[in-house]
Amino acid sequence: MRIRDPRSVTRLAELDVELQHGAALADLTSLGIGGSTDLLRIKKHESLPDLLNLLEANHVPHKFLGGGSNLLVGDGELPCAVLQLVRPEPDVVLDGNFAHVDAAADLGRMITFCAKNDLGGMEGLIGVPGTVGGALRMNAGAYGMQIGSYVREVKLYRAASRTIEVLRGDQISFEYRHTSFAPDDMMLAVILKLPSKPFKEILQGIRICNEKRRSSQPLGQKSAGCIFKNPPGASAGRMIDELGLKGLSVGDAQISNRHANFFVNAGHATAKDMLMLVADVRERVQKSYGVSLESEVVVWNA
Ligand code: EPU
Repeated sequence: MRIRDPRSVTRLAELDVELQHGAALADLTSLGIGGSTDLLRIKKHESLPDLLNLLEANHVPHKFLGGGSNLLVGDGELPCAVLQLVRPEPDVVLDGNFAHVDAAADLGRMITFCAKNDLGGMEGLIGVPGTVGGALRMNAGAYGMQIGSYVREVKLYRAASRTIEVLRGDQISFEYRHTSFAPDDMMLAVILKLPSKPFKEILQGIRICNEKRRSSQPLGQKSAGCIFKNPPGASAGRMIDELGLKGLSVGDAQISNRHANFFVNAGHATAKDMLMLVADVRERVQKSYGVSLESEVVVWNA
C-alpha cells in the first residue's frame, strides 16, 4: 500500500515520521520472506495518536512491526502500511534494579548491557532475535524463564482508547507465549525489575543457554524460531520429528534437519510455500496425534 497524497506526506514529516516507499519486508524479517509496502518509522512515541488518526482519515490500514523475528509476511504488495519504532539512543537506562527499556531496543543487546551492570534473570533469552517490544508482546521465554516475570510497568499505545497508557505489571496477564495486550496495542517502553547478580555468574548462565541453543536449533539459517506453540504437556518439535518430517519441503520452505519445529527459508521461499508446509504438517499431526497445533509465528496475509 502506498501513501501518495502530498498533504499526508507533509503531515508525516511534521510528525517526525520517516516514510520509506516500498520497503521490502523480506529484508526486515528473520525468515527473509514477504512482499513490500510503505514503512513508517516513528521517531517520537508522542506522535502515535496523531499518526493513527491521519492513517484512519486516509483509509490506510496499518500493522506494527517489531524486530520481525516471529513473523511470516505474505507475498506481493501488502494491503496495509507498516509502522515501526526508531530505536532511540540510549535505549536502556538503569536505576538500581530497574531497567527502563525502549520497545525498539534489541533484546540481546539489552540483556548483555544489563549483565555488564550486574543485573541478571534474562539469561535464557540470550540468542533470541528481535526487539524487547516483540518479546514483551508474546511473553517470549526459554529455558524455564519468561520476560513477563520481570515486568513492572509497560508504556503502550492503546488502539481502543487511542491514547498512550501506562500499565503496571500486575495489570497484564503473561501466559505461555501469550499476553493480555490487544492485537492492535503497540508496545512503547517497559520497566523491568531484574535481580542483582555478579556479571561472571550471569555470563556462565548465558554460555550454558547459548550452548544448548547451538546444539539443538538451526541458528545459522533463516527462520522465525519455533513455528508452532507447544501443546500442553507435549512438544511440537518432537511430534513432527517422530513423524519423520525433518527435511520435508515445499519449494525452499523446509523443516529444519536440526529441530523439527523450526521451518527455515533454505533459499528463496515464498510465504505461499511456507504456509503450504505449515498446513501440511498441521494436518499430519492432527491425523496422527489428534492435536491441533497452534501457530506461534504471526502471519500477515497479503
Ligand atoms: N525434540 C525432538 N526432535 C526435534 C526437536 C525436539 O525429539 O526435532 C525433543 C527434544 O529432544 C526434547 C523435546 O523435544 O526432548 C523438547 O525440545 P526442546 O528442548 O528443543 O524444546 P522445545 O519445546 O522444542 C521450547 C521453545 C523454544 C525454546 C526451547 C528452550 C516453544 C514452542 N519452543 O522448544 O522457543 O528455545 O524450548 O527453552 O515453546 C520459540 O519460541 O521460538 C523457541 C525457539
